[in-house]
Amino acid sequence: MKEVVINDLPVTVQLDTTTGDFIPCAEKVVRNVSDLARMFSDQETVRQIVSLGDKLVYVIRYYPFFTSKSDMALGTTAILPGKVGDEYHMTKGHFHARDDQPEIYYCVQGEGFLQMESRAGDYHAVPWQAGTITHIPPQYAHRVINTGRTTLVFVASFHVAAGHEYELIEARGFKNIIIEHGGKAVEVPNPRRSI
Ligand code: 6PG
Ligand code: NI
Repeated sequence: MKEVVINDLPVTVQLDTTTGDFIPCAEKVVRNVSDLARMFSDQETVRQIVSLGDKLVYVIRYYPFFTSKSDMALGTTAILPGKVGDEYHMTKGHFHARDDQPEIYYCVQGEGFLQMESRAGDYHAVPWQAGTITHIPPQYAHRVINTGRTTLVFVASFHVAAGHEYELIEARGFKNIIIEHGGKAVEVPNPRRSI
């Protein structure tokens, strides 16, 4: 059980925008292809990668700011460049468990897309580059895709109580998938959604 440090004074952390590392860092989580096995379209390639020893896709770092009143948190995510089959490296994607919780995403390095989709299927894919900031409203699932040649790094700002719900994205994905075609990133309908 992690110790919760309550601090009602200002707190400053330093971000390395090239790696997503920030000091101090409270918690680090890595996600490999095996953790995203159900997210990628090309299941045969997923099986091959996992049987050959797996592959790192992204690293998440969290810093919660606990106060006696309300608790915001910072997260950074560093998505390595690469693909699984034709599909670019991406985050799992999730809804917030609480339906009243928005989030701000700020891209500090790299290029790609932020996909957002409501439960009813209202879908948006926003092109992303260093400096792009997006406000994700409550009840929109969110996923970032790295379509560039460098590590994509973004900062997330959210409330500690927001929580994560992965089930619906695991079951159906987003409306479109983003793949490399003819050397370019293109959006195509998600085969799992067109049945
Ligand atoms: C959050 C943020 C963000 C996200 C990571 C990893 O709500 O905590 O959206 O920190 O969790 O970018 O993405 P997945 O949680 O979808 O793997
Ligand atoms: Ni989130």
